[in-house]
Amino acid sequence: MNLSTTYLGLKLKSPIIVSSSTFTANAETIAACAKAGAGAVILKSIFEEQILADIKKEEGYTNIYDTMPEAQQYLKTFLRGNEIEHYVNLIKEAKKAVDIPVIASINCTDKGEWTSISKRFQDAGADALELNIAIAPFDNNLDPKAIEDEYIEILKQVKQLVSIPVSVKIGSHFTNICNMAFRLACNGANGLVLFNRFYNADIDIKTMKAAPGQALSSSEENSTTLRYILLLAAQGIACDLSASTGISDGDHVIKQILAGASSVQVCSVLYRNGIDYISQMLNDIEAWMQSNGFSCIADFKGKVNHEDDLKLTERLQYLRRNSGI
Ligand SMILES: Cc1cc2nc3c(=O)[nH]c(=O)nc-3n(C[C@H](O)[C@H](O)[C@H](O)COP(=O)(O)O)c2cc1C
Repeated sequence: MNLSTTYLGLKLKSPIIVSSSTFTANAETIAACAKAGAGAVILKSIFEEQILADIKKEEGYTNIYDTMPEAQQYLKTFLRGNEIEHYVNLIKEAKKAVDIPVIASINCTDKGEWTSISKRFQDAGADALELNIAIAPFDNNLDPKAIEDEYIEILKQVKQLVSIPVSVKIGSHFTNICNMAFRLACNGANGLVLFNRFYNADIDIKTMKAAPGQALSSSEENSTTLRYILLLAAQGIACDLSASTGISDGDHVIKQILAGASSVQVCSVLYRNGIDYISQMLNDIEAWMQSNGFSCIADFKGKVNHEDDLKLTERLQYLRRNSGI
C-alpha cells in the first residue's frame, strides 16, 4: 500500500502531518512523530511579536506593546531573548533529526518588518513556510475587507522574500471563506490549511469572570473543515489543501482525502492518545484502501468532488432536512 502524497510540491511518505504545537517544538518529539509515520511536521510557531522584540532589541527598543502594559508584561515572561536564533536552531536540529519535510511556522497579524526574517528560516533549511495569519475579527471597528486585504498583503510580502513554498493557515471566520481562499491561492499561496482554531471562550460561573475554554478540539469540529475542503476542491482551487481541526481517526483522514485534501494535520488527537496513534491511523487507512481496491492515495483523492456533492453539502441538504426527509 502506497500512502505517499505530495503537499506544497514536497513528497510526503504519508498524508498525516503533525501540526504546529508543543510536539513540534523540539527535535526529540519531532523524531518521534517521524518514527510513528508522520509525513511532515509543522514546527511550533514563532510569533510576529517574538521576531519584532528581537529586531527592536537590536535597534535599542524594548517596548513593542508600550500602549498595552499587560501584553508587554506577558511578553517579558514569554521571551527568552534571541528568539530568531533559537528558531533557526530549531529548524536546523529538526532537519538533522528527521528525513521528512520540516515546515517552519510564523504566527502573525500584520505585514511589516518582521517578514524580512522569513529568508533566515529558508536559509536554515526549512522545506516550506506556513503562515498562521491570525487576525482575530472580534472588534466591530475592523472593516472585514481591510482584514482580508491584510492577509493578502502579508502573503505577498513573504512570497517576495522566499523561494520555498508558502502555505497559509486561516481560521473559519470570514464572510465568504471560499472567496478568501481563492484570493490567497491567486496571490501565491502554495497551500491552505483549513482551519486554525481560536481558543474557545468560556465563563467561570463561580468567579463570574471570562475563562479560557477547551484547548483541545473535539472530533465533531472536523465537519466544518470537511465542508470547505469539499467546496474549495469542487470549485477547482489552484493550491493544495491541508485539513486541520478535529481530525481524530483514520476515517477522518480518508474523508478529507476523498473531499480533495492533499494532507491532514493532527494535534489534539495526539495530546489525547500519544504520538504513536499516528501509526494506528495509518494502519486504518491502509486497511480501508485495501478493502476498496485502492493502492495509492491518488486513487481516491478528490473522488467525492463534483457538482452534485457540492449542492448536496449545501442548500439541498438543508432543504431536505427542513422538509423532514
Ligand atoms: C497546545 C497547543 C499549541 C499550539 N500551538 C500552535 C502554534 O504554535 N502555531 C499554530 O499555528 N497552531 C498551534 N496550535 C493549533 C494546532 O496546530 C491546530 O491548528 C489546532 O489544535 C486544531 O487542530 P486539532 O483539532 O488537530 O488539535 C496549537 C494547539 C495546541 C493544542
